[in-house]
Amino acid sequence: MWSEFRKVLPQTARISSTGALEVGGCDTIQLASEFGTPVYVLDLADVRDRMARYRDAFGPGNVYYGAKVFLTKTFARIVAEEDIGMDCVAGGELYVALAGGFPPERIVLHGNNKSRAELIEAIEAGVGRIVVDSFHELEMLRQLTSERGVVVRVLLRVTPGVEAHTHDYLLTGTEDSKFGFPIGEVAMRAIEMAARSDNLELVGLHSHIGSQIFDLKPFDEAARKMVRFLAEARRACSLEIPELDLGGGVGIPYLPSDEASSVEDLAKILHEAVTSESELADTEPPRILVEPGRWIVGPAMLTLYTVGSVKDIPGVRRYVAVDGGMSDNIRPALYQARYTYLSALRPDAPHDRPATIGGKLCESGDILGWDVLLPDVEPGELLACAATGAYGYAMASNYNKQPRPAVVAVFGGEKRMLARRETYEDLVRLD
Ligand code: LLP
Repeated sequence: MWSEFRKVLPQTARISSTGALEVGGCDTIQLASEFGTPVYVLDLADVRDRMARYRDAFGPGNVYYGAKVFLTKTFARIVAEEDIGMDCVAGGELYVALAGGFPPERIVLHGNNKSRAELIEAIEAGVGRIVVDSFHELEMLRQLTSERGVVVRVLLRVTPGVEAHTHDYLLTGTEDSKFGFPIGEVAMRAIEMAARSDNLELVGLHSHIGSQIFDLKPFDEAARKMVRFLAEARRACSLEIPELDLGGGVGIPYLPSDEASSVEDLAKILHEAVTSESELADTEPPRILVEPGRWIVGPAMLTLYTVGSVKDIPGVRRYVAVDGGMSDNIRPALYQARYTYLSALRPDAPHDRPATIGGKLCESGDILGWDVLLPDVEPGELLACAATGAYGYAMASNYNKQPRPAVVAVFGGEKRMLARRETYEDLVRLD
């Protein structure tokens, strides 16, 4: 069992001398008693290693961490220290990144409906690049930059018309999408407009096909289509357009049986696709940029919960209720996402008792895991849910007026709070 759990747990996870789950040199039983549950625990060594692997695979300056996955001020500083950039999708993310001291020139701003105010914030902060998503935005940006007499570097987001195999809600690169310009005539019109604007420096094209994708084929297909289109665009505008941003999207294992690809495999496929397709299209290979999110932080974090009620419905199922739910992990309810659960008290015990993990929210859909395997747990037992770093805390809510949990980073036996647990007073702060 334990060797299976290892496949989805953070790198430094081990069984402590007392037999409990340990991460970053910290006993999870102690973490739970110090910070309360639920609590998100981030393995700092693991997340830094993941950033380094991406940076090494694609080269310094070419990797932008997708801030939407997880962001706090301290985490922004950690990303900055690892020498990678940041992809922000809204004024709020930009604000938190800057508040954490993140260098603006290493930020790329996305968003399919950026407001005038957000564009002004980005221009005034001096962000490195803005990814333009619509004609409306192109016009606003042209106006705002010429009024201020500044030049902004832009990329244009293009939907390559590639179908990746993932949940429908996580697809973004199909022609029928709210994101970007459809590849072909429409995108070419946008490119020509951007190229004609004195205050916009068109440095690249961008595409992102979706998220939690295991099969690397669609990445190859999208990269090739984008290179061919880039070659056409370069010829049409007689411009260098040196960069091609191929987005994020690599899947991670949530279950021990998931076969995920490595970032090194992705880098190899993208480099080969871009090099060979550039040669065929008789154009210079563009510089490849990427925007990983889930792969960087997802597997490096887990959530600890305390078991409350245990209900056996004869002939039906066993419900094990925990002290969190869709308020700290909406993904099972929203995308039918599956996770691995284990006892943090006795990770080495046989996990052979089927149980359905219910959250504590007043909603039948608040199920965190259907038919998982656990030991014969009792009220008070600590459970761990693996791989909750991506989009867990970021999508957390106060539904049922649940205070959001704390986030604690652990490293070499030390712990550091990245975000404190919300209090009841926080719940009335805005009233
Ligand atoms: N770049 C762009 C333009 C994106 O839209 C996204 C994610 C990323 C990069 C990062 O993708 P990643 O490497 O994390 O797959 N809330 C959903 C995922 C939504 C993904 C949105 N875009 C979930 O919990 O699965």
